[in-house]
Amino acid sequence: MIQSENPAKRYWNLFIAALAILNGIFVPLYIVYPGSVPFVPNLSLLVALVFVIDIYLEFQTVYEHEGSPITDLRLRTLKYLRGSLITDFLAALPLLFLRSSGFLPDSIPAILFFLPLLKLLRVNKTLRDVGEAIINPAIFRLAMLVFWILTAAHLIACLWILVSGNPDGLAPTDRYISSFYWTITTLATIGYGDITPKGSTQMLFVIVIELFGAAMYGLVIGNIAGLIANIDVAKSQYREKLDKINSFLKYRNIPDHLKKKINTYYGYLWDTRKGYDELEFLHDLPVALKESVALHLNKEIIERVPLFEKADASLIRDIILQLEPVVFTPGDYVVRAGELGRDMFFISKGSVLVLSADEKTTYATLNAGQFFGEISLLLSMPRTATIKASGFCDLYRLVKDQFDVVVEQYPDFKQSIRILAEKRRAEIQAHTK
Ligand code: CMP
Repeated sequence: MIQSENPAKRYWNLFIAALAILNGIFVPLYIVYPGSVPFVPNLSLLVALVFVIDIYLEFQTVYEHEGSPITDLRLRTLKYLRGSLITDFLAALPLLFLRSSGFLPDSIPAILFFLPLLKLLRVNKTLRDVGEAIINPAIFRLAMLVFWILTAAHLIACLWILVSGNPDGLAPTDRYISSFYWTITTLATIGYGDITPKGSTQMLFVIVIELFGAAMYGLVIGNIAGLIANIDVAKSQYREKLDKINSFLKYRNIPDHLKKKINTYYGYLWDTRKGYDELEFLHDLPVALKESVALHLNKEIIERVPLFEKADASLIRDIILQLEPVVFTPGDYVVRAGELGRDMFFISKGSVLVLSADEKTTYATLNAGQFFGEISLLLSMPRTATIKASGFCDLYRLVKDQFDVVVEQYPDFKQSIRILAEKRRAEIQAHTK
């Protein structure tokens, strides 16, 4: 049995998609100009054989239902039957080969030879599985839109040659180009009127193509703006947010220096995290997944803080979900001396100044990987110093309740913090003497 995620199966699907596209190009060309692409019947036999193997492999492929693999053959057959079994079967009939070898009468309708093109219906899914993982999904969708428009135009151009013949006696290449030109002008609803239908059959065909063109034109115009806006979803959402904020700042007459500060803050959020709010993202995930993603997202801070280096894995797991990322802008007060301590902070990026209450003495500068705010939490006393951001700072905040739970559970961790807290307090006392 083959797993749906099997890489070999993915390559096989890509191979099938390539054959379906080859068929899509050459079968219609052969139907209108057999002499210019004489290899097509043999190619169609080969493709039909591969398509039969593909049907067999599809039967062997396990599919997933609500996250669990379905191995039962009856269920798999039912699923395939409801999906693409019929179209896959029709696409695997080597009718073109049988007709060209004389096994089928010449009177068989030409439209039946288009049956192998049904396999094109699976191209979208196969290419999407591969493409969206490699390139920007919006760019991929735009590329697919162009691909389908060109494929449809090619098919219609060939059908138009079938329906309208070759009234001007053009050479095959020129006739194809003139038909393709007619198709594009009709689909794009330009319709110069230089090539017009003669007789009821051609008129009926043109009516169908015009209706199809009008619908397609609407669909393309309707989608294209959205697709372009989605090329960089994060950026367009960020711009929209910034526009909203700036119009609010204007509406409430916020002073210019504050406006500038707010804009610089959002500029920093964009530069460092493309405007995404990690907490908001984590909030929607189920607990187990949240923990794994948080471990990955906060990997940097865990690696940077020497205190965590020696800590055991369960402590890291316990603490990681409680860490809340916060940003401070240059000159912001993170902690003020004398206040009640409600949280402690780990520095991920940037640096802070540890100042005396009157801000005349700088006790220390703390950088990425260091922490502060622990003294008041551990020793239940007011904040011993003022902490000011010296530039933009990315910090992780741990609130007192969670801090208490963690230090209660992990006495070694508590001891490491206590040693540093005592040392820092002694330094401040030495300064004030
Ligand atoms: P807390 O008293 O809760 O708030 C102020 C913080 O400043 C304090 O915890 C320590 O984390 C930090 N701090 C105080 N003194 C020093 C020092 N000498 N060196 C580094 N950090 C300090």
